[in-house]
Amino acid sequence: RERKDGQPPKQRLLVVANRLPVSAVRRGADSWALEMSVGGLVRALLGVNDFEARWIGWAGVNVPDEIGQSSLTKALAEKRCIPVFLDEEIVHQYYNGYCNNILWPLFHYLGLPQEDRLATTRGFQSQFDAYKKANQMFADVVNEHYEEGDVVWCHDYHLMFLPKCLKDYNNEMKVGWFLHTPFPSSEIHRTLPSRSELLRSVLAADLVGFHTYDYARHFVSACTRILGLEGTPEGVEDQGKLTRVAAVFVVSAQCHFPIGIDSDRFIRALELPKVKDHIKEFQDRFAGRKVMLGVDRLDMIKGIPQKILAFEKFLEENPHWRDKVVLLQIAVPTRTDVPEYQKLTCQVHEIVGRINGRFGTLTAVPIHHLDQTLDFQALCALYAVTDVALVTSLRDGMNLVSYEFVACQASKKGVLILSEFAGAAQSLGAGAILVNPWNITEVAASIGYALNMPADEREKRHHHNFMHVTTHTSQEWAETFVSELNDSVVEAQMRTRQ
Ligand code: G6P
Repeated sequence: RERKDGQPPKQRLLVVANRLPVSAVRRGADSWALEMSVGGLVRALLGVNDFEARWIGWAGVNVPDEIGQSSLTKALAEKRCIPVFLDEEIVHQYYNGYCNNILWPLFHYLGLPQEDRLATTRGFQSQFDAYKKANQMFADVVNEHYEEGDVVWCHDYHLMFLPKCLKDYNNEMKVGWFLHTPFPSSEIHRTLPSRSELLRSVLAADLVGFHTYDYARHFVSACTRILGLEGTPEGVEDQGKLTRVAAVFVVSAQCHFPIGIDSDRFIRALELPKVKDHIKEFQDRFAGRKVMLGVDRLDMIKGIPQKILAFEKFLEENPHWRDKVVLLQIAVPTRTDVPEYQKLTCQVHEIVGRINGRFGTLTAVPIHHLDQTLDFQALCALYAVTDVALVTSLRDGMNLVSYEFVACQASKKGVLILSEFAGAAQSLGAGAILVNPWNITEVAASIGYALNMPADEREKRHHHNFMHVTTHTSQEWAETFVSELNDSVVEAQMRTRQ
């Protein structure tokens, strides 16, 4: 692995996540179109280029035939991606079922599903079995591509069983695991029937990471209360084996560990002619009106109905603003096979229709709601023309839309309204207006405050956030995690020798 520039070789990194950064769409027996996947995890990891990285994950498509599998493997190899092929039944039980109907809502404090929500699949135990089986399939692919010295970085709630499967293969593998959602209070986690097995498996990793100190603290107390293990300032100890829990020991060493974005990519994009054209187009289209923006996956944790109801309350209480402000809500369709997500889509459409009927005129509507993914250039332009961004998740691991908005606001210096229940509140809290998204009266009042905010206060708040977003990047986050992982393994080896 000699490098032409004479620099030392980059470390090989196997990034394992349920979803690859590209999703495949079949065009013919052996022809594929690859589209960028959505979601914060993918967006953040794309900025990580200091390693010789390979991605291992699911391409989001069922490929039952051999021709399809080998042609897709070839197409993905060009993007340094390695597919894990999951059949329809596994996807149904593991991805739609255990991951998105059980773990996702639970980790976001929405509780476990009632019996009727489980009945659409085959109940809890068969979903958990499928989850373990799918994790084992990921482990098989990792093991096949692993070379001595590689770092294996497992991501998110889909792959909590993976660290154990990997260590069962090879105890010398350097394995890290990072959670991109909140880790809930141990009181919530202990309601999960498979609570202990998942914790034990995660603890097989050498380093475990979270976005915030609180998530790490919750994880450590779940291990203490549920498994009866000892929590130390560095992590969790089980019969002499220490699993370091990144945010916990890093906070005690006064460092920072939360994820960021590739801010330069957004700042540079604003100079592209196509983005400038979009900016001009949007400015003309919304001339005379303040632009408020929401960009979310259409997910119940994002609090879209609550946000729109708060906007309605604002319009109700401030009639003079009705023809002077517009809310653009981009709601990217997601997990559309899960019934809860289908219900949410109908609910949001119903509310938007009612409000537009109530406050719209023959020439303008107060809410533009799009169930669509925007391309990167249009998205950057929208961020740049926005006066007020509304990120009002009911719970959110981090929320990188808030970071992307800030990165694109160097000239406008717009206001960020941010949920106190998003991980990002801990880093952008001083520059944003923090709100409780469940309190519609408070959010409506914050909209008024943001729209009327004097320029010097906007500048001060923006400056704080811009400094943070441009210095705490995804690049730095990945470097810190991987170097801590390397150190943890060396320290563990030294402890064993002593
Ligand atoms: C969140 C999760 C990611 C996931 C993304 C998109 O950001 O933390 O792991 O990839 O949502 O969801 P999807 O189900 O489409 O992969």
